[in-house]
Amino acid sequence: MTHVARGLDYVKPDIDALLARFNRDPHALVQILRELQAQQGWLPRDSLAEVATALGLSLAQVQGVASFYRFFHTQPVGAYRILFSDNVTDRMLGSEALLVDLCRRLGVAPGRVAADGVVSVERTSCTGLGDQGPALLVNHHHVLTQMDAPRIAFLATLVRQRVPVAQWPADWFAVQDQIRRADVLLAEPPLPGVALSAALARGVAAMLAEMQHSNLRGRGGAGFATGLKWSLCRQSAGSEHIVVCNADEGEPGTFKDRVLLTRYADTVVEGMTIAAHLIGARRGFIYLRGEYRYLLDALQLMLQRRRDAQLLGHAILGRPGFDFDIQIHVGAGAYVCGEESALIESLEGKRGTPRIRPPFPVQSGYLGYPTIVNNVETFCAAVHIALRGGAWWSAIGTPKSTGTKIHSVSGDCERPGLYEYPFGTRIGRILEDCGAHDTQAVQVGGPSGVCLSAFEFGRRIAFEDVPTAGAFMVFNRSRDMFEVARGFAHFFAHESCGFCTPCRVGTALVVKRMDKLAAGHGSRHDIDVLFELDKLLHATTHCGLGASACNPLRDTIAKFRPAYERHLKSLYFEPAFDLDAELSIARQMTGRDDPGAHLEKLT
Ligand SMILES: Cc1cc2nc3c(=O)[nH]c(=O)nc-3n(C[C@H](O)[C@H](O)[C@H](O)COP(=O)(O)O)c2cc1C
Ligand code: SF4
Repeated sequence: MTHVARGLDYVKPDIDALLARFNRDPHALVQILRELQAQQGWLPRDSLAEVATALGLSLAQVQGVASFYRFFHTQPVGAYRILFSDNVTDRMLGSEALLVDLCRRLGVAPGRVAADGVVSVERTSCTGLGDQGPALLVNHHHVLTQMDAPRIAFLATLVRQRVPVAQWPADWFAVQDQIRRADVLLAEPPLPGVALSAALARGVAAMLAEMQHSNLRGRGGAGFATGLKWSLCRQSAGSEHIVVCNADEGEPGTFKDRVLLTRYADTVVEGMTIAAHLIGARRGFIYLRGEYRYLLDALQLMLQRRRDAQLLGHAILGRPGFDFDIQIHVGAGAYVCGEESALIESLEGKRGTPRIRPPFPVQSGYLGYPTIVNNVETFCAAVHIALRGGAWWSAIGTPKSTGTKIHSVSGDCERPGLYEYPFGTRIGRILEDCGAHDTQAVQVGGPSGVCLSAFEFGRRIAFEDVPTAGAFMVFNRSRDMFEVARGFAHFFAHESCGFCTPCRVGTALVVKRMDKLAAGHGSRHDIDVLFELDKLLHATTHCGLGASACNPLRDTIAKFRPAYERHLKSLYFEPAFDLDAELSIARQMTGRDDPGAHLEKLT
């Protein structure tokens, strides 16, 4: 049987064989849909119905999951699906003009499928390549970096000639690590197994004490004490305990985990294995964001190497103390799945809707088992603590922010890439090192972080001053900070999972107001409304996405108010549409165009 998608034939895959590979486990639904779509191009209703029946789920449940993730398609898409990374840094490098040019060459409108079904061109949230944009994803797992006008022209030709992506120029797919400043974590990686042996030799209680002594705080954003999290999980009753590595890295402008998973993947997994030993886990997951699917094969090979070296895997003879293996779960394009409880829902094969807490994952996480979720960088730090002790780690950085932090530096600077510094480093120092000139602002920690103006470049990176999950986007004085904030507002509205009304509606209202200002119809009243929306979202949303959605707005209004005021047409109320223009049809019908047939313009 074939599915005809606007002229393209997809051979229907052997769904039964696919389901058998996943033991017909409904918790594997997201992975099953990913593979089904990879074989079939999209997810037709009859395939979803077959999956639902085989897994004992309702069609509505399966459709609900399929419709949640942006990388799943329940309608036909182009045989070449081209997604432009749409972070502000990509735009600063000219991605919008490239998108328009490509659409023109291919005769397709942005967001639409070409009439012959060959190609679709769309925008997607930051793909984690901010240091080497403008970036593209083709068919979800081919990553193209540093696109420019000649490459786009050639790409259009290749698509028109239907050249398989595997035959496109190899240098388009090159992803550089760009490590500009290494300290502890970005230095030569430790040999596999050495830190694990050190942790095993110490014993569980002593190693947990080292973790607590290190004062390591999680690197994914919230900064929760890692040693405490692991101790709490160990103490939680459960027939199983689970370790999860959060490699969702969806915060625009962040790409450090991409490099850690490329060059330091053994260290990441060693950290997970140490954690498993400490909490008593036999199973672990790496939740890899869909945009990093291109790393999957190398990661699988690394896991197999570790199994062969008896550093991983079950029933390891002669190695008492741990018995642990890891599966990789590939996400499907949802920023909210970086939130740990949404991530666990997704691991369980569901929509990535954040859970009500308590209970916290350390009490009841994956399938109700006590679970730790930690960032990629946190696991790397644990390896170095196992090697050199908690006291050594806590001597680096500041008392409340120990150790080093990796920054993903992008935007207006000469040397974008990764920079690792001890906590306590000045913002200005990072700007000097990356070759930033005439800097107007830095967005630290991504859109949900903080926007700093030049007066604040003496402030320091630390949980007690400027906390960060790792993004460091630089804007020089030529940039319109209103437009930067508007881009972030669109990002949050796009990524809202829609579960709670304040976020679903609030983020859309923020976009509406910002677009109104951008169109020149704004007034002071609109800025006041934005402040009100900020308060509302902060106080009433269900998870951190909604709560931080107005952060960039609040910061930029407070620190770059002239950027907003330049867009104000009126000091008073201005409607979101041009009333006079709306009356033009009536004027045509009545044949009038005298002054009396026009509304008086507000000034
Ligand atoms: C909307 C949202 C997105 C998040 N995305 C990520 C992410 O991509 N990676 C990450 O490690 N933590 C992310 N977090 C934080 C996680 O919920 C969690 O705090 C973190 O994984 C814990 O690990 P850590 O203690 O090592 O930092 C996100 C939180 C929110 C609210
Ligand atoms: S705050 Fe937004 S992302 Fe979080 S649960 Fe509510 S709707 Fe979903």
